Amino acid sequence: MDFNDAPLDPTSVANLSEQSLRLDLVDTTDRERFAAWSNVVGRGFYGARLEEKELDFVLNSSSYRRATGVWDAETSDLDPVATLSAWTTPMSVPGGTVPTWAISAVTVAPTHRRRGIARNLLQNELRTASACGVPVAALTASEATIYGRYGFAPSARVAKLTIDTRRARWSGPVAPGRVRFIELSELDTVGRELYERSRLRTPGEIALDDETWTDIVGREFGKDDKAKDVRAVLYTDAAGTPQGFATYRVKDSENDEPLTATVLYLAAATDEAYAGLWRFILELDLVRRVVADLRSTDEPVLWQVSDVRGVKVEPYDHLWLRIIDPVAALESRTYSRAGRFVLDVADALEFAEGRWLLKVNDAGAATVTRVTGDAPEDAAHVALTEVDLALVYLGGASVTSLHRAARVTEHTDGAAALLDATLHSPVAPRLSLWF
Ligand SMILES: CC(C)(COP(=O)(O)OP(=O)(O)OC[C@H]1O[C@@H](n2cnc3c(N)ncnc32)[C@H](O)[C@@H]1OP(=O)(O)O)[C@@H](O)C(=O)NCCC(=O)NCCS
Repeated sequence: MDFNDAPLDPTSVANLSEQSLRLDLVDTTDRERFAAWSNVVGRGFYGARLEEKELDFVLNSSSYRRATGVWDAETSDLDPVATLSAWTTPMSVPGGTVPTWAISAVTVAPTHRRRGIARNLLQNELRTASACGVPVAALTASEATIYGRYGFAPSARVAKLTIDTRRARWSGPVAPGRVRFIELSELDTVGRELYERSRLRTPGEIALDDETWTDIVGREFGKDDKAKDVRAVLYTDAAGTPQGFATYRVKDSENDEPLTATVLYLAAATDEAYAGLWRFILELDLVRRVVADLRSTDEPVLWQVSDVRGVKVEPYDHLWLRIIDPVAALESRTYSRAGRFVLDVADALEFAEGRWLLKVNDAGAATVTRVTGDAPEDAAHVALTEVDLALVYLGGASVTSLHRAARVTEHTDGAAALLDATLHSPVAPRLSLWF
């Protein structure tokens, strides 16, 4: 079933109608209704009203998403009191991708808050995703306290890097390719292809769409004038093939602040391109500080500068995942070591509830089956919640650490460490965008 055709979840519809609220989908081809819905999203995040051109961009770029709203007949037939949008995307995982239900634009009007509207919206999405056979849901969160109650966990953290370029001088390899300036209009094609190639090297990244691409090139709501000061460079290898790009802004110094280059995005399909682009950024003349947000918590550039104390690393939670179907989710990724595990998963919303046998072969491929009786004795056995399962799914959190934190229970000695070795991702998970 296509995600846009899926019916609403009857339980959520019924729960909301008890409060005389109507849960419904917006026809995104109906300009008036979709515009009203989009403006309510903007208001929910305390943004300004959208101008016509901004609206055109929003309507064009996100009309393919599934737009859900809640209406209160007492207030307006047009403007919803709550919004949520969703679409499916292949999220990268170790060794492949997993179909993922991406959730965005979650707002509830301040006039209708704390009446269970967000709860019903979220549960509607999870049940709909489940009915569509999508095994994982994903979102980025404005606050870290909202989504745990629905089984989401911060599965991939990111870091903001602030680099003092006088201390942290480039000490990495000199890449053999070439860095050249490129206009943003030209980057629109080659950059999107490079994004796709580079994101598949890192678990936790989602596919691009027109809306997410604008963040990479600094065009708010698709407006070119917002990106006037954004510069882009392309890295081509010795054979002349594009292998990476970076977009950045250099801001005038204010209040004695050093001249700062802010990296909007740096995509590298090869390690060589990564080195070439980072070296270019760190060696920009006059610039004394480089700020790069949404970077990995395990960035190679930390090991490519002369003074590691010249780089301030501020990590924070970013990609929140919810495991809806543990069989499909766990079978979608590959693993670092063979092993046999029993996972007893407790899930208040039932999706991942049960005893699961995870068998990983020598090639790192997994099969997962439900166990109805006793756990097989030859398997390493742990008990955990759906939140902890999501936390460790991409290898972003350690089972050992969760065991020491008394969140994961070991039913066989040493099971946590064995599971860690199997779940380990050589590349730390990261999501390089907001959505
Ligand atoms: C966050 C928001 C969507 C919550 O909507 P809501 O309809 O008031 O939430 P609900 O009434 O369904 O609350 C469900 C639970 O979440 C809790 N909750 C809601 N908002 C919360 C918040 N910001 N922080 C912590 N807990 C929150 C409620 O207390 C309730 O807890 P319970 O499970 O113990 O009963 C809403 O406040 C909002 O639109 N905020 C501004 C936009 C925003 O931040 N959106 C999130 C984007 S990622």
